[in-house]
Formats: sequence, structure tokens, C-alpha cells
Amino acid sequence: MCGIVGYTGKREAKEILIKGLKNLEYRGYDSAGIAVLDKNRLKVIKRKGKIKNLEELVSKTSFSGSSGIAHTRWATHGVPSDKNAHPHLGCKKRIAVVHNGIIENFESLKKDLLKKGCKFSSDTDTEIISHLIERNYHQNLEEAVRKTVLLLKGSFSLAVISKDEPGKLVGVRLDSPLIVGIKDEEKFLASDSSAFIEDTRRVVYLKDREIAVLTPDSVKVIDFQGRKVSFKEELLSFSKEEVKKGVFKHFMLKEILEQPKVLEKILSYYLKEKDFNLKELTAFRDFFKKLQKINIVACGTAYHAGLVGKYLMEKFLNIPVEVDLGSEFRYKQPTIRKGDLLIAISQSGETADTLAGVRLAKKRGAKILSICNVLGSTLVRESDKVLYTLAGPEISVASTKAYSAQIMVLVILSLYLAKLRRTLPDSLINSYLNLLRKIPSCQLKIVKSKDEIRKIAQKYLNFGAFLYLGRNINYPTALEGALKLKEISYIPAEGYPAGEMKHGPIALIDEYRAVVCIANNSSVYSKMLSNVEEIFARRGRIIILATEEDEQVKKYSRQIIYIPKIKEELSPLITIIPLQLLAYYIAELKGYDVDKPRNLAKSVTVE
Ligand code: AGP
Repeated sequence: MCGIVGYTGKREAKEILIKGLKNLEYRGYDSAGIAVLDKNRLKVIKRKGKIKNLEELVSKTSFSGSSGIAHTRWATHGVPSDKNAHPHLGCKKRIAVVHNGIIENFESLKKDLLKKGCKFSSDTDTEIISHLIERNYHQNLEEAVRKTVLLLKGSFSLAVISKDEPGKLVGVRLDSPLIVGIKDEEKFLASDSSAFIEDTRRVVYLKDREIAVLTPDSVKVIDFQGRKVSFKEELLSFSKEEVKKGVFKHFMLKEILEQPKVLEKILSYYLKEKDFNLKELTAFRDFFKKLQKINIVACGTAYHAGLVGKYLMEKFLNIPVEVDLGSEFRYKQPTIRKGDLLIAISQSGETADTLAGVRLAKKRGAKILSICNVLGSTLVRESDKVLYTLAGPEISVASTKAYSAQIMVLVILSLYLAKLRRTLPDSLINSYLNLLRKIPSCQLKIVKSKDEIRKIAQKYLNFGAFLYLGRNINYPTALEGALKLKEISYIPAEGYPAGEMKHGPIALIDEYRAVVCIANNSSVYSKMLSNVEEIFARRGRIIILATEEDEQVKKYSRQIIYIPKIKEELSPLITIIPLQLLAYYIAELKGYDVDKPRNLAKSVTVE
């Protein structure tokens, strides 16, 4: 999704803006541009394609200035092109704007502007904003911006500069995050704090319908009615190293290998010493005790984590749990109502379909508990309670550490609820908690055998299609393993419940089909083994995940990935690691852009 960067201060703006865009590259984009106030003209350079195209052009152009805005565009209205890239200017080229979101009433506004003689140079919805601000400008930029946003319908976070007010940078937040970065004599604006983390960790998270007015030495926040608003300065919870690849070829590998550390952090935060430390949920204790059912809404990888949560909660709490994709939940007649709980799971906290599900559930009177990885995100602001996954910034488009973090939080939440509702004996709860503390070392053991997994990837990278089979609580693991492969290697891959194969999909099996079978120790192990037998009998090319020392699986394949023995309910935290690595190495060996796969964005903020 689009990325916004703004700067005003004492240094050369163009370098800071380009560096900021590079830190936002992971969000996915198809064009990029910058506008800098160079003496008394707005210099705009923008290009279709990668940021390096823009950078080359900037280096060949002589201009300078100490305030500016920049943007990476993920096209919604108007094809990816130089002219449709942001920033956009008004007719008199006095105002420059970059925008993240969608203006739903832009056609009617554009028609009106055309009648008034405005000339447009792009097919975007954004360009109408620059024309409107210019027409509303009367010696006060924030006032012109404020009057303009009152005319707009849709979602819009903006950064705006004007040649008439050098050094002033105005930001608007509505539905897409916009964060102010604070440093002495310098101020920043960005969609995501990774853009300026090398310069400062002092931030202000703008809320919806707020306008930030920045100069090198001042920060002012007003609302859409022009009233001054108080704001809270916070310190970012992560360091600049966390948004750098370091020694790794790709963020994805770095983030896969970070998982043991992430889970350690979650365990030490939510399980201080012996007991639960979920003070965030204290006010909900009575509500939780009376719960009759739980809804979970999420998308993509987060949805798969939600499916694992369903198995856990139905087993530990003995109440029905419905899991829906955000894009489906928002358009069906959901059974959710007052007194119900909606758990929204989202790494970014900006996924439009998940947010729409939350808003629908809130309208029905449900309470919202979100499991999210990004402080200050829209989901966090719209939830009653939040459990953070503490995974640190996840840069690679393919979600890995956020997934196991979401599951770890779901396990802890499920056990917490089981204790509260007395649906499990304390002795069993404690034994699960003790086993949870072993998970990071189990993950580490698998990560240490990553070279074995790379060898399997080498053998299988030319297969035209993959099938991932799992049962029970590892059926979602099969779905997630397939998603990882397809989204970064572009190989068709399908996750399937192993028991369902004989109802049709087994027709797919032959020696050209790679089949990944998740056959670790579990209550359905023998059933799973019969499914492996069925695949083997039809010459499917099998990769098996099995528990250490399992000799039985050897007759089906030489490609065996052994995982440590762990209680079945906790196994999704382990079984996913080899599948993440398998997908990573296949894509890496194919030479693909693993962190930024084609057509994908890190956070899908449009429906
Ligand atoms: C996962 O690898 C994908 N990048 C995608 O499915 C993602 O999980 C989905 O878009 C949900 O994102 P969220 O967790 O930020 O809401």
C-alpha cells in the first residue's frame, strides 16, 4: 500500500525523503516521487517503477531545499505511470500533495473543478486534493487543508507543502496511519515510523480526523473543526536495527530465524514468573466468564492463526468459535450480537477487510479484542482491548514471525480463559504453560537444520504444483505452508485437510505432484499415515514432517524433516517453521524478489 514521507528541518530534504521511501519499500508499490521546496519553486520528480529509478533522476537534477514530501504509490485509480505517481500539484503549482487511501467522491469533485477551469494532469483521485487546497488557500495552509478535507469522502492520509509557506509541513490522518517524528529543529511525517527511525524514535501517533502542522521547531495538532488537540509524545518500542536486513540476504529469512526470540519475549511478557500477566484484560473478566461463543475475523496468514485459535478455544473452553475471513464476514449476515466477543487478528492493524469486520461487530454490540503487532495502528485504536504480539517490525511481505507470535498469544489467551472459566484443571494448564516455555528451543532446533531444508528445496523447486496435507490442528498449518510457497515462488500450492483427499483431490496425485505431509505425533497420527500411504501408492512425491525418531515414515520418502516431540495442541508453533523455510529457499533458489513478491503489498488497506 502507498507510503508517505515528509520532512522539514535544517538538512537537505531529498536524501532524507529517498531514504525514507526505501525504508517503506516493503509496503509494496509501483511508482514513487518527491517534491521539495527549492527556494520559491516546488520541484517535483516522480517515476513509475522502483525507487532506484527515481533516485537516479534525482541525482541528475540540480535542486535543493530543506522541506519536502515523498510517496510510494500502489495504484488504485489510474494505471502505474509517471504522470499518475505522486506528488500532485494544483494548477498554479503552489501546493504539492501526497495521499494514501481512496477519495470516494472524487468524480463529482473533479467535474466541479473542471467546470471552474482546472486543468488535470493525471487520472488519479488524489490530484483533486491539490487543486482544492490551492483554491481554498488564503495565507494559511492548515486552514486550506482543513476546509478541503471536509469536502472529501473516503479514506485519506495526506502530506502537504506550499511554496507560500516555506518550512511548513501539514499532515492529515483518516483511516491510514500517519505518524509524526520529532527531533530538535527537524520534524518528520510518515505512514510508518520505519521511514525515519534512523533519525528519531520520538513519535506522535495521529488519530483519525487530526491535522498535524509541523515546522522545524514546532508541532501543532488540530481537528477537522480547527480546534487545537492535545497530543502524546511516545518512544518507539523498536530500534533501527530491527528494520535493517543486517547479515541476511532477505528480511524473510531474518524474520523466520527471529521467531524463537520473539516467542521468548511473548512468554516473558504475558507469563511473568508462574502466572498469567494479562492485566490488559482485567476489566473483561466478568464478560469473559459469561461468554457463550467467540468470533474470530482475520485475513491471509492471520486467518490461519485464527483457525488454530478455533481448535484451541473449542478444546480448552468448550464453546463454539466461528472463524471468518474479513472479506466474507463483512458481507454475510453474521450471527454476532451484543455480549459476544470478536477477536480480530492482524499483523499490520490496517487490513481493510479485517477493520470492516470489526466495525460491523461493534455496530452489533460485540466487544473487540485485537491481537496486533503495530502500536498506534487503526485496529488498535478501534479495539476495546489489545494483546500485542511484540514481534517487532515485520518487513517481508510474507508473514512469518507474526504468525507464530499470533498463535503463541492465542494459546496463552485460551489457557487464561480456561483458568478463568474453570474449564481445565490448574494442573493441566500449568503443564501446558511449562511446555510453552520449551517452544523457542524447539523452534531453534529446526532453524539449526535449515541447510537440510534447503537441500529439499533444491530437489523440489521445479515441481509445477504442491499439495500440503494436514489434519486437525495442523490443517491450518497446511493452509499456511501453501500460502507461503505460492505468494513468494508463484508455484500453485494448495493446503488441504488430509482426510478430505479421497473426496476428489486425490485425482491430482501422480509423480509430478509434490505433496507435503504434516505427520507429527498427534491423536490423528495413524489416520494421517494412511493418507500418506494413499499418496505413496499413487506415486506422489512426498516431503514428510515427522516427530523425531519416527521410523515408520521412512518407507514413504527420503525427504523427511524431523521436528521435536511436542504436545499436539502446541505443535502448530513448530510445524510451521520447516514450511516457512521450504518456501523461502524455493523462492530464493529461483532468484525471486522474496521480500517484495509481485502484485503483493505488506498491508492491504483497500478492499
Ligand atoms: C501473508 O504472508 C500475507 N502477506 C497476507 O496474507 C497477510 O497475512 C494478510 O494480508 C493479513 O495481513 P494483516 O495480518 O496485516 O492483517
